[in-house]
Amino acid sequence: MTTVDTIPSPFPALFSPLRIGSVTLRNRIVSSGHDTVMAIDGKVSDQLVAYQEARAAGGAGLIVIQVGAVHPTADYTAHALQLYRDDAIPGYTRLAEAIHRHGCAVFAQIFHGGREVMDSIDGALPVAIAPSAVPNERFHVIPQAMTLKLIDEVVAGYAAAAVRVQTAGMDGVEIVASHGYLPAQFLNPELNTRTDRYGGSFENRLRFLREVIAAVRTAIGREFVVGLRISIDEMNPTGLTRDTTLHALRELDADGTLDYVSVVAGSSATLAGSDHIVPPMTMENAYTAPLAALAREIVQVPVIVAGRVNQPQEAERILELGQADAVAMTRALITDPLLPVKAATGRAEEIRACIGCNQACIGHFHAGYPISCIQYPESGRELLYGQLRRVSAARDVLVVGGGPGGLKAASRPPAVIG
Ligand SMILES: Cc1cc2nc3c(=O)[nH]c(=O)nc-3n(C[C@H](O)[C@H](O)[C@H](O)COP(=O)(O)O)c2cc1C
Ligand code: SF4
Repeated sequence: MTTVDTIPSPFPALFSPLRIGSVTLRNRIVSSGHDTVMAIDGKVSDQLVAYQEARAAGGAGLIVIQVGAVHPTADYTAHALQLYRDDAIPGYTRLAEAIHRHGCAVFAQIFHGGREVMDSIDGALPVAIAPSAVPNERFHVIPQAMTLKLIDEVVAGYAAAAVRVQTAGMDGVEIVASHGYLPAQFLNPELNTRTDRYGGSFENRLRFLREVIAAVRTAIGREFVVGLRISIDEMNPTGLTRDTTLHALRELDADGTLDYVSVVAGSSATLAGSDHIVPPMTMENAYTAPLAALAREIVQVPVIVAGRVNQPQEAERILELGQADAVAMTRALITDPLLPVKAATGRAEEIRACIGCNQACIGHFHAGYPISCIQYPESGRELLYGQLRRVSAARDVLVVGGGPGGLKAASRPPAVIG
C-alpha cells in the first residue's frame, strides 16, 4: 500500500515531522477547523466521521475539528456542534478513532462566538452575549453585556469542553480567539467598553482569554496540547490590529501555557473582514504567510498558517522561508483529500486544485447545506459515493456525450489509495 510515510518526498520540508507539545505530526499539512454543517442534533454524525476519515486517509498530518460550542449561548448557527453536552463525547471518540486509524493527529476547536450569532433553530431573533452591548453590523445582532457571573460560567464552559475533547481520545484542543469571536471581542477596545476588571487597559482586555487558557490548562493538565487560533489582522476598520494581537501573543507566549499558534486574518464582524475568513480567488495565494512570520518572530511555539494555499509547492516555500512551521491547506483538502499522498509520491500534477470560488464549501455553509466542492462532488458525500477502489479486471468503456460530465468521465480516472 502506498502511503505518505513510505515514499521519499519531493517536498522535504512539508513531509518532515513536526512536534507540537506532546504530539508529533507525520507531516506539516493541516486541515484547519471548518464547519461542515454535518452536525445532527448538535452531535457528530456518521457523515462527518466519513468526511474527516477521507482526509486522514489521504495523508494529512493534522486535522482540526470545526468549532464546538462551549456554552448554550455559543450556538452560533442552528447546526453547531455542542461541546457543552456530555453526550457529545461518543461522537468525538468516533472521529478520533477514524482519524488515528490512518496515522493522522486530531485536535478540536473550542468556541464561543459572542455577538457573532448567525441564526437560531426556529428563526427567532437569537439572544447573544458579548463583553458589551455593541451591535453587530453583519448579522444585525444586539448582544447583552455579560455579567461577571456569566463570564465565570463561560470560562468554566471552555474548560469543561476541553475535558470532553480529552476524554474522547483526541490529541489536543484549539481555543478560537480568531475572526472577531468572543475572546477577540474582549481584546478589542471598540467592542469592549467595560469599566470592570475585564475592560479598559490592555491587561484587563486580555484577562478573559488568559483566564480561558489557564482554566483549560488546569483542567486537562500539561501534556494535552492546547493551541490558539488568532487573526493577526482582522482587516476591518473596527477590528483588531496587528499591534494589539502581536502584543497579546507576546504576553500569552511568556505565560508558557500554549503549545502552538494558528494564524489567520479577518473577522466575522463585517463583510470586509469576513472576506478574509475564507479568502476568495481575488486574494493572492499564501498572502497571510507574512502575518504568520510576524507571529513566528514573537512566539517560541510552532506557528500554523492558513490562507489560500492550494498547492504543495506554495506550502513548501512558506516552510523554506521560515514563515510558518505548518500550513493549513483546508479547501485544498476539500477539493482533493488525496493531495498529501499525491504530493508525497511524485504525482503533484494529479492534484485537483481548489480555485477559491467559495461556492460549495463556505457557500453551502451560508445556505445551511453540508459542505462539498464544485470540483469534487464526492467531498462531503463520502457515505453516498464511498471509497474508489481499483477494479480487479480492466475493461474498455465508451462514454457517449462530450459535455463537461462526459469529458470528465472519459478523462484519466482519479487516483485511488492502494
Ligand atoms: C466551510 C468552511 C467553514 C469554516 N469554519 C471554520 C471554523 O469552524 N473554524 C475556524 O477557525 N475556521 C473556519 N473556517 C476557515 C478555515 O479554517 C480556513 O482558515 C480557511 O478556509 C482558509 O484556509 P484555506 O485557504 O486553506 O481554505 C472555515 C472555512 C470553510 C471553507
Ligand atoms: S467549492 Fe471547492 S474549489 Fe471552490 S473554493 Fe470551495 S473547496 Fe475550493
